[in-house]
Amino acid sequence: NKKDILKGKKVLITAGRTEEAIDPIRYMSNRSTGKMGYSLAKAAKLYGADVTLISGPTNLKKIDGIKTINIKTANEMYEETLKKYDNMDLVIMSAAVADYKVKEYSNEKIKKQDDDLTLKLTRNPDILFELGKMKKNQYLVGFAAESSNLIKNSLGKLKRKNLDMIIANNVSGFSSDENKAYIILDENKIIELETMQKNELAFKILDKIIEYKINL
Ligand code: PMT
Repeated sequence: NKKDILKGKKVLITAGRTEEAIDPIRYMSNRSTGKMGYSLAKAAKLYGADVTLISGPTNLKKIDGIKTINIKTANEMYEETLKKYDNMDLVIMSAAVADYKVKEYSNEKIKKQDDDLTLKLTRNPDILFELGKMKKNQYLVGFAAESSNLIKNSLGKLKRKNLDMIIANNVSGFSSDENKAYIILDENKIIELETMQKNELAFKILDKIIEYKINL
């Protein structure tokens, strides 16, 4: 019976997109809906875990029994994640975090110009990279969405970010109800999954984490 398999475990999940404001009415973002992260949060709760969800803007309903922290920007997600990180047993970062924000936010609505407009962007923190550096007992899982060289790039992220596992998926997984993913533990352990509903994929991911648990 898997019902209580994560009982007493503290699980932190990030979900959805971030929004980086350009001026009072405009922002930069991406097509992540939060479905993957919310599915993981629900699955972890069904397995008995104590789940905290850090969520970007989404149309999804808040899940009963899950502490949900709503954020907008990458920096806000970073701050909230750091506050919770120390106590966690398992951390899964499924959010699509903006790598860049505008260098200078405009307090005024930016006026149309006759010519091209150039926005200067600056880097956001790489939250997962920072978590990897600080990792103690947490089992740390990342996601990678790639449009080419999926496995190679995902393996690079697994190593560079000091992760225990990475879930590699195609960019077509953004906003769809289903996804095709690979669960990667290292170059010799790559598990290819069939295309399936994100609800089901969430359980498959948790089952693999439990199977390969190191500190859980
Ligand atoms: O929300 P859905 O519509 O259901 O879509 C789900 C999804 C496709 C967004 C999800 O399955 C997914 O792949 N999430 C990661 C998206 C992504 O673009 O990742 P990345 O390759 O930019 O980043 C790699 C990892 O580092 C991710 O775990 C990400 O959360 C993390 N990261 C990235 C950038 C950054 N500045 N900070 C981070 O922590």
